[in-house]
Amino acid sequence: MRLLYCLLIVVLVGCGGSGGSSSDADPITPDPAPDPTPDPEPGPLDETLGTLITRAGLSGDAAFNRTLPDIADPLPQLGKKLFFSKSLGGEFDSACVSCHHPALGGGDNLTLPVGVGAANPDLLGPGRVDDNLIPDVPRHSPTVFNVGLWDSGLFWDSRVESFGKEAFANGSVSDIRTPDVAFGLADPDAGPNLPAAQARFPVTSAEEMRSNFLAGETNAALREHLAARIGNYGAGQGELLSNDWLAEFQGAFASTADAETLITFDNIALALAEFQRSMVFTSNPFAEYVNGDLDALTNQQKEGAILFFQTVDEGGGGCANCHSGDRFTDELHHVIAFPQIGPGKGDGTDDDFGRARETGDDNERYHFRTPSLLNIAVTAPYGHAGAYESLDQVLQHYDNPGNETEDFFDAGGVCQLSQFEGVPDCENLYPAAEANTELALQKLAEERNSGDSLFENPNLNGNERADIVAFLESLTDPCTVDRDCLAPWIPTRDEAPDENQLNAVDAGGADL
Ligand code: HEC
Ligand code: HEC
Repeated sequence: MRLLYCLLIVVLVGCGGSGGSSSDADPITPDPAPDPTPDPEPGPLDETLGTLITRAGLSGDAAFNRTLPDIADPLPQLGKKLFFSKSLGGEFDSACVSCHHPALGGGDNLTLPVGVGAANPDLLGPGRVDDNLIPDVPRHSPTVFNVGLWDSGLFWDSRVESFGKEAFANGSVSDIRTPDVAFGLADPDAGPNLPAAQARFPVTSAEEMRSNFLAGETNAALREHLAARIGNYGAGQGELLSNDWLAEFQGAFASTADAETLITFDNIALALAEFQRSMVFTSNPFAEYVNGDLDALTNQQKEGAILFFQTVDEGGGGCANCHSGDRFTDELHHVIAFPQIGPGKGDGTDDDFGRARETGDDNERYHFRTPSLLNIAVTAPYGHAGAYESLDQVLQHYDNPGNETEDFFDAGGVCQLSQFEGVPDCENLYPAAEANTELALQKLAEERNSGDSLFENPNLNGNERADIVAFLESLTDPCTVDRDCLAPWIPTRDEAPDENQLNAVDAGGADL
């Protein structure tokens, strides 16, 4: 569906193209390899890689067998306006897009997000700060691209989780657990799929969107109030200066019902979900290669792909042990022991217990959901705490987690990260970070000793790491670095039916 849109754009203005974009500002697309033969026979690299691709069972279409909405559909259009609306922020200063902008890879390009209280609420990405310069949100903001492709759970710890995890269903077939209910229970209000269930939560987080608005009241009461604000009824009446949302909802839901009936939080969450589910960015050079275009990858990328898919015994990186399938994730949780920085979700210890915090099972301490690697070139920084700013650091970590984390702390821990430049007394911000990371490393060592870890030491040299990085970059959809191609997911300046649309700018004041 989006492909169709892009095709249309290609005809009109050019859609970034695939594989060989000519723009030299484009950091993603590798220089097209000089190619002596226009239609080459498969070389030895192609034969090895082809065998590995078959073994990995890849289809070349990460969105295979899914029914996902088109951004031109009415519900995603409504969802777009809500996603960009500060009216869903308790104090009108934060929107979903504050941490998930399409032009920032569907995230915020920060180590840790800054939600409410930003000095300039409309400034997104590097330079977004609140008054003490210290980000308050405990985990790195993951991309919302391809969120319609998860079947198991959302969040780094899958605390929004499908019971049945049915393939291709995005959580729509069986019950869903959310943080509103205890682990193992179904949330009767979760809605039709994982993204709809997830969309009920950012508005309830004081750091992300809520501030102190209705502090102490239940999540349900808060959501009802926000719906009433958007719908201009009951307790929320008159909270917006201008309000034309009813017409938008009536159009999107093809209904003439009144605001109380139509503008409920369930319907807000549904529209937000449909908007996000329309963000399918799965066309990339590697997928083209899997589909038979042997020229779509450079030789270096082919070498990197081979290393990625080969097991450690075969001399590779063993990456596909966890980053498996067309989306490069098993949707399971593992300990990798990336540096533990920031306030974390460890109940006041600056630690982050990961999956164990949900399941209560200490064996899952420091386990995080395997990220998809699609569009990885535009979603830095990396990991649940955003500690690594480059893919090279990630690869060095896989090579030797103990050394790389030690280097990270020797180089100043968070203080070396661009987001923490100029933070006063930075060295003393998270005094337990190194010790907490050490605990995660110990957990990894225990699991390795007992044979429970899929993470083997790959022993990659510098060239091999660079090859893998080159391969990883080929997993990025050219549309994600092309503002024109992204335009359908970004509202024009005055599209919202009230005064609170977030029109994002970068630190230099340029429109995103
Ligand atoms: C202040 C920043 C911030 C704001 C505002 C925000 N998010 Fe997020 N979002 C995050 C962070 C951080 C996570 C990961 C949290 C975790 O895993 O514990 C996340 C996770 C998600 C995920 C899960 C992605 C995945 O791969 O599992 C989705 C979907 C999402 N957010 C959508 C939304 C929507 C919809 C809104 C608005 C209602 C929103 N976010 C507002 C920071 C933010
Ligand atoms: C044991 C399972 C496992 C193996 C093997 C594995 N990974 Fe990962 N990978 C993960 C998990 C889990 C995370 C998230 C860790 C965190 O957030 O703390 C991750 C994170 C990443 C990230 C950062 C993604 C992001 O969006 O933040 C990259 C890049 C990555 N892995 C690449 C690789 C490469 C390349 C290899 C092979 C050398 C590899 N992984 C091997 C499980 C694995």
